[in-house]
Amino acid sequence: MNAITRLATVISLASLFPFSALAADAKGTVEVVHWWTSGGEAKAVKVLENLVEKDGYEWKDSAVAGGGGAAAMTVLKTRAVSGNPPSAAQIKGPDLQEWGALGLLTNLDEVSSQNNWDKLLSKTVSDTMKYDGHYVAVPVNIHRVNWLWINPEVFKKAGIDKAPTTLEEFYAAGDKLRAAGFIPLAHGGQPWQDSTVFENLVLSIMGADGYKKAFIDLDEKTLTGEKMVEVFTALKKVGGYMDENRAGRDWNIAAAEVINGKAGMQIMGDWAKSEWTAADKVAGKDYQCVPFPGTQGSYTYNIDSLAMFKLSAKNNTPGNIAAQNDVAKIALEPEFQYVFNQNKGSIPVRNDLDMSKFDACGQASAKDFAEADKNAKLEPSMAHNMATSLAVQGAIFDVVTNFMSDKNADPAKAGKQMSSAIKAAR
Ligand code: BGC
Repeated sequence: MNAITRLATVISLASLFPFSALAADAKGTVEVVHWWTSGGEAKAVKVLENLVEKDGYEWKDSAVAGGGGAAAMTVLKTRAVSGNPPSAAQIKGPDLQEWGALGLLTNLDEVSSQNNWDKLLSKTVSDTMKYDGHYVAVPVNIHRVNWLWINPEVFKKAGIDKAPTTLEEFYAAGDKLRAAGFIPLAHGGQPWQDSTVFENLVLSIMGADGYKKAFIDLDEKTLTGEKMVEVFTALKKVGGYMDENRAGRDWNIAAAEVINGKAGMQIMGDWAKSEWTAADKVAGKDYQCVPFPGTQGSYTYNIDSLAMFKLSAKNNTPGNIAAQNDVAKIALEPEFQYVFNQNKGSIPVRNDLDMSKFDACGQASAKDFAEADKNAKLEPSMAHNMATSLAVQGAIFDVVTNFMSDKNADPAKAGKQMSSAIKAAR
């Protein structure tokens, strides 16, 4: 069932069973806005829904389709402005501070102290979840963004005997795949997907320090320098391995092209694994996950979290507040962390869990995360709202996507355009 059909089914079921009838026996209701709508993602979020319902609360699912979450954020803003926020919403990284500053988020002091969140979470993670010293969100996972997904069967058919570890090897694999009649690189032409590729190239070409200077410091020299010209030149070349009809394609449809053997590779965060898992494919056997060429040792992280809103007067009942706290509590419990993350493609956000329950990609991710952390090579993902404000991110997205959709775009100019767009957005 695609997202639209699923949405239509949900809407028609809701009209058959009005909200009040469904909620009749629940102790309280929690409404959650999120964008986990692909097959694998929906399976993952269902785990939370089931556990909340087991505790006697009603889960009101307000999924807004659209990878990367831009559409969900638009819906959320409209609802918040009109005084009708949901109980919880998928909000991440620095954006949590902006919502906190608006005074719209509720604090989770009680549930976080009762359940020892400060001990369970690393400081980088807990600091991100706090506004003004109080938890306002609960983290659910850690995704890695600098991955390359490979169909080894397709590689074999194209005569490629190993996964690329450098950009040169990546281009060589792309050439062979094309010559053998495959789409070398599956991709969906949407701004966040374009920028996912772009940030991987920044990391590969500029290294961890250059990445930090570009996306955290927003350093003008880095944004406009020679290395950035190299990045845009590489982006143009990488774009040449994507198929021409990619505009608007969803990331999971692109993932399906690799899963079905039409394409050889995809550059995507490890939510892509949720699609492989949902298709019953086994990591390390049916597919390979390798660090994006040239980024070995670094780890771009993307932490999903659910922020809790102050409830509107009409919803502000003890039962609904209890339901909100229940979501926050469950989200960090081992039962949820294991099953959700196995389905989602991510790794647990608490580091006391047994990683032998995870597949080869999950284990590699946990190991690489720990190593990158030791070596100061953990980088927040720009394309996934971890590094900058949404305004700055939007400015970068515009420049990158315009560049990718214009065959005549000049790599020597793009960095300068990006720097001016960032300045205007700050
Ligand atoms: C989110 C993931 C989600 C992906 C695709 C990312 O920004 O962090 O949870 O699976 O977008 O929608």
